[in-house]
Amino acid sequence: MAEFSHVPVLAAEVLRFLAPKRAGVYLDGTVGGGGHAALVLEASSPDGRVIGFDRDDAALAAARERLAPFGGRARLVKSNFADLGERLLELGITGLDGFLLDLGVSSHQLDTGARGFSFQQDAPLDMRMDTGSGPTAADLVNGLSEDELSKLLHEYGEERWARRIAAFIVAARTDAAIETTFRLVDLIKGAIPRGAWEERLHPATRTFQALRIAVNDELGSLERGLTAALGLLTPGGRGVVISFHSLEDRIAKNVFRSFSQGCSCPKGLPRCICTKVPLVRVLTGKPVMAGAGEIEANPRARSAKLRAVEKL
Ligand SMILES: C[S@@+](CC[C@H](N)C(=O)[O-])C[C@H]1O[C@@H](n2cnc3c(N)ncnc32)[C@H](O)[C@@H]1O
Repeated sequence: MAEFSHVPVLAAEVLRFLAPKRAGVYLDGTVGGGGHAALVLEASSPDGRVIGFDRDDAALAAARERLAPFGGRARLVKSNFADLGERLLELGITGLDGFLLDLGVSSHQLDTGARGFSFQQDAPLDMRMDTGSGPTAADLVNGLSEDELSKLLHEYGEERWARRIAAFIVAARTDAAIETTFRLVDLIKGAIPRGAWEERLHPATRTFQALRIAVNDELGSLERGLTAALGLLTPGGRGVVISFHSLEDRIAKNVFRSFSQGCSCPKGLPRCICTKVPLVRVLTGKPVMAGAGEIEANPRARSAKLRAVEKL
């Protein structure tokens, strides 16, 4: 297996907000190479535990190696974190002292050209985190209608040129199916007028983001997983989410807000009969972002936004 390289982002901030303690039970819903998980295990020594989820076999293999020194304190599970309620119940876990979701793809996934996540390397258009299930990016690019493609690129990629890119894709695939990243990149470059290319953003960035989100149902998984994880936090338990684009950050913000709100019935009612009570306290008014030093050392940290809550 190629060496797994991924530097955990906002590591000090994750520890500050998660505040791991002895004997605590923590969920790392996106264990990746186990970087954050190892820090949580160290901070909760000698008997804190981490349950690490990932959908990606290569990530789990790397995490297994990285977390081996912690023995039975680390447990790894191949699963979408959207299903964490059921999976944790199967393990007999009914409460969490904290959870972390460090979203998106790892540097390892991006750097492994064959996975099809990167527009910088020619590879089959796959983009599945779990290579054993679900449609690939090629299935979507070749199977969706022009309208569906345009909507997908607009909604998940916030791509201004969605209509034109969709039209170019549909015209090109009548000759031969679009099977590779570079063929798609060429089509995108043809669809977006040269003068409209952004200075610091590759023209394929938004289309690749949109396809990856759709292939892996990233937004639906986040909403389901986050809601389930908040329900499992024990009083005083902390939840931390690190997102890398505005769609994910908006979901984290809105789910946290809805759990933090109490009764909002109009004032002046004779007696409020709603039962809504705040379940969490939001610890981060604005999202926490990496400092210049971290961004210089790890450019991936540039777009990271961390939000955290505490269960009441
Ligand atoms: C940014 S990396 C996490 C890196 C990790 N924090 C570390 O320090 O090494 C994100 C990881 O989450 C996984 N992932 C993304 N969405 C997931 C989901 N819905 N369920 C499970 N794993 C997911 C990806 O496969 C990837 O390995």
